[in-house]
Amino acid sequence: MDNIQMVDLLGQYQQIEGKINEAVIAAVKDTAYINGPEVKSFAKELAAYCKAGHVVPCANGTDALQIAMMALDLKPGDEVIVPAFTYVATAEVIALLGLKPVFIDVEPDTFNLATDQLEQKLSSRTKAIVPVHLYGQCADMETILKFAKLNKLYVIEDTAQAIAADYTFKNGTVAKAGTMGDIGTTSFFPSKNLGCFGDGGAIFTNNGELAEKLQMIANHGQKVKYHHDIVGVNSRLDTLQAAVLRIKLRELNNYTGNRQQAAQYYDNSFYGLEGIEIPYRNPNSTHVFHQYTLKVKYGRRDELKEYLLRHKIPSMIYYPVPLNLQKAYLHWGSKAGDFPVSEKLSEEVLSLPMHTELTGEQLEYITNTVKSFFA
Ligand SMILES: Cc1ncc(COP(=O)(O)O)c(C=O)c1O
Repeated sequence: MDNIQMVDLLGQYQQIEGKINEAVIAAVKDTAYINGPEVKSFAKELAAYCKAGHVVPCANGTDALQIAMMALDLKPGDEVIVPAFTYVATAEVIALLGLKPVFIDVEPDTFNLATDQLEQKLSSRTKAIVPVHLYGQCADMETILKFAKLNKLYVIEDTAQAIAADYTFKNGTVAKAGTMGDIGTTSFFPSKNLGCFGDGGAIFTNNGELAEKLQMIANHGQKVKYHHDIVGVNSRLDTLQAAVLRIKLRELNNYTGNRQQAAQYYDNSFYGLEGIEIPYRNPNSTHVFHQYTLKVKYGRRDELKEYLLRHKIPSMIYYPVPLNLQKAYLHWGSKAGDFPVSEKLSEEVLSLPMHTELTGEQLEYITNTVKSFFA
């Protein structure tokens, strides 16, 4: 079978082509390319969707993390706890700001920050925790928020992979990913669950003062044009991208549903198959399946990846090296063996095609091919 892709951006666009074209042409003709009305409308609509107090749009998910840390006045040498098994952006901005990432291992089932190790990572310099809701499922926010409150730490949720996921607290309160900590950050990279046609990002907060500061930092530290009260950056969501995102936000529940259906198909097909483990579901969080990630046992992951490729099925390894073992971060003193779960996962994980346009035929072909590898 031809044309199976990890993500199908063209297929997704074709479903809403008329609306997108209309919105993009209108924005082009309007010529307010920077901070145009679409940007403000999108921020309001996203805030309403996520029930967040405020949304500050910015240029990408990495900037969102950096702006968040700048807004919290973290000082050089301050420590920020981050999972060792995640995308590089989180550690990168910590390094750029002269802060110190303190890596923590992840849970073997949810792939999210291992909360039972928080206590041992705590020092007098710890200022913040960055839980990453990896692959589309929330980290254990109940425990993280409780620990943070007790130890007066900020929580910055990296929601780049989990926009629209719902987390349920023990008291029954339900909150969207990104709205539970002091600040949440997200990315609209094209392949994300809510993706635009280039780079884009946003920052969530329920704190009005913080929102104002975030907005200022994203805009050269100014509230009034040419009056720079604090050091900022230039990080804007383009008006054209906001126009696209406004249309796609209205589709987000359908997109999430499509991903969940595809995941269910994978689950049903693989259930009980010796040699792989299907993604675990955290009972407190919905899973929006940014990725459908298998654990492949007995050292056969790379073999399976090649086998799939021979059958024209792409797959990806997110992530082949834990952050603490990346060359750029070795000087923080980590060595192999420090984070055994992250290291094992980097050898076992394999993400299968996951997007909103997967057909029944494609899913059947992919799952049959995986099963034939283990037969
Ligand atoms: C968990 C996580 N954080 C941050 C980012 C950074 O987002 P961006 O690529 O928009 O800078 C990504 C993007 O892949 C991500 O997956």
